[in-house]
Amino acid sequence: MYGDTAWEIINMTQWIHKPILLEEITKNLITNKDGIYIDATVGLGGHTKEFLKHLSNKAKIIAFDKDKDAIKIAKKNVNDKRVVFVNKSYTEIKQEVDEINGILFDFGISSYQLDNPEKGFSFRFDGPLDMRFDSRDTLTAEYIVNNYNIDKLEQIIRNYGEDRNYKKIANAIVEERRLRPINSTLKLKSLIEKVSYQGGRINPATKTFQALRIEVNSELENVENGIDIAKNFIKVGGVIAVITFHSLEDRIVKNIFRDLKKTKNWQLINKKVITASREEVKQNPRSKSAKLRLIKRIA
Ligand SMILES: C[S@@+](CC[C@H](N)C(=O)[O-])C[C@H]1O[C@@H](n2cnc3c(N)ncnc32)[C@H](O)[C@@H]1O
Repeated sequence: MYGDTAWEIINMTQWIHKPILLEEITKNLITNKDGIYIDATVGLGGHTKEFLKHLSNKAKIIAFDKDKDAIKIAKKNVNDKRVVFVNKSYTEIKQEVDEINGILFDFGISSYQLDNPEKGFSFRFDGPLDMRFDSRDTLTAEYIVNNYNIDKLEQIIRNYGEDRNYKKIANAIVEERRLRPINSTLKLKSLIEKVSYQGGRINPATKTFQALRIEVNSELENVENGIDIAKNFIKVGGVIAVITFHSLEDRIVKNIFRDLKKTKNWQLINKKVITASREEVKQNPRSKSAKLRLIKRIA
């Protein structure tokens, strides 16, 4: 319909995701060259590939991703026996490890996912309203827009999209689905455009798409649970590094790190959030909204 397996195979070899804040993360995260590390969101393997350059043959990286396609591409890109790939959510870390020297969470979405019409994350192409990182999950964006009641839709668009136009958009969705199902990215986009102000910096559908993605993948709950679980496995001297791409996630990380610091067993590596340099943003516009926070276990 929107693409087929051939499309996937042709493009598989071309996917490169420029890893963000690579130097800052590597220099702080790799504290022991023989250590065990987790890349909680391996994506296309960009960060992992760099970490390996700083690790000995004894070291190991356990690389998680919910997306089976990402794992497939990362395996090819990384191609190193020191890496164990796990096609599960990072919230299942405890089944895979005892103690680790460091963990990276790079939240957000990879270029492969964003640029793949079949995944339905972007309104730049027509595609199904899917938005699942993990195709084994059952909740899709299509289900949400066609079945959630108006209050729930408003809540999601307001809280996860931070869109002031949430009432108009939720209403337009409910009106439209009475007539016909809303089953493609472009149908949803044009519906939102009809009831929104068009002159802004970003397309008016951007925030609703973000909101749906967060709801489909339980992203905010996972951020909280993932870090909460991971902290129990970090050795003294080990580091948790987190990259976020919007304020909702960053707020969660900031609060968790603040509480960890209060225990006196953890120390913030950077008091102020680290962002990409002007040079990095020029080369990789996706790094513009990235925020990095790092915390070290000291006792
Ligand atoms: C921004 S990308 C990571 C890019 C990667 N650091 C690189 O350099 O290629 C984020 C990845 O996190 C994955 N992801 C999202 N939620 C996840 C979860 N709960 N568990 C594991 N992976 C997840 C997505 O599928 C996506 O591939």
